[in-house]
Amino acid sequence: MEIIKTIAELENKLAPARKEAKSIGLVPTMGALHAGHRSLVERARKENDIVVVSVFVNPTQFNNPDDLRTYPRTEEADAAMLEACGVDYAFMPSVEEVYPEPDTRIFALGPVAEVMEGAMRPGHFNGVAQIVSKLFAMTRPARAYFGEKDFQQIAVIRKMAELEGFTDLEIVDCPIVREEDGLALSSRNVRLTPEGRKVAPNIRRVLLESLDEKASGMTPAEVKASVTKKIDAVPGLRTEYYEIVDALTMQPIASWDEATNGAVGCVTVYDGDVRLIDNIRY
Ligand code: PAF
Repeated sequence: MEIIKTIAELENKLAPARKEAKSIGLVPTMGALHAGHRSLVERARKENDIVVVSVFVNPTQFNNPDDLRTYPRTEEADAAMLEACGVDYAFMPSVEEVYPEPDTRIFALGPVAEVMEGAMRPGHFNGVAQIVSKLFAMTRPARAYFGEKDFQQIAVIRKMAELEGFTDLEIVDCPIVREEDGLALSSRNVRLTPEGRKVAPNIRRVLLESLDEKASGMTPAEVKASVTKKIDAVPGLRTEYYEIVDALTMQPIASWDEATNGAVGCVTVYDGDVRLIDNIRY
């Protein structure tokens, strides 16, 4: 595996692969890699000739400076994991390399980006669109891999790809990887206190229970109220939002039939001061 720091170097390395019509798989990450990332990389390895993993904590998607400051950075361990997974190129650029000047592009992402994370974190999805569009343009992958933990992010990236004409690129969504007790893997989990870590699996427990609530005839509004109440009843947890939305449009549904693409429940919970997200398909 080679560690690449500049865009020019990345171009040079990928040029021969392009000439030989080799497929390139891209896994965009912000580092602090865990088994969830590993599953994306392993899938990319199986499905492509060349695998590029980007490790870049993208400042433009952080609407909270403290979150950016405290975001875990573990470059050496990341490189070791990627090497062990048989990655060809780890792209680890500096902020100056990616943004030699401020990126002022505003993407017309529309309704998929206006609800849930979009409403809670103004500017976040525009920042994601900025960095992912840059990575797509630099790498020109056949396939790009994203984890379903960030369910809404995938819908937003699909929209950005449509807007920017990345039409010959497959966006591959990959299942959430969980700890044995159900907690969705996240780079932020390392920031949980021991007490916070103990209560965190309640998020998954409550979401699983909501499947039975739906089966018992409860409406989306009733399930939403129940999930929120149960999570908030756990000491240390506080629901920021729980929405039941159409799996493609991300729009909240009033009845189960309305979700023509399937329904998904998306939750954000503060566990102490750590913001965790998770989701479940109905
Ligand atoms: O999901 C993430 O880690 C980031 O949002 C992404 C897609 C790598 C863009 O910075």
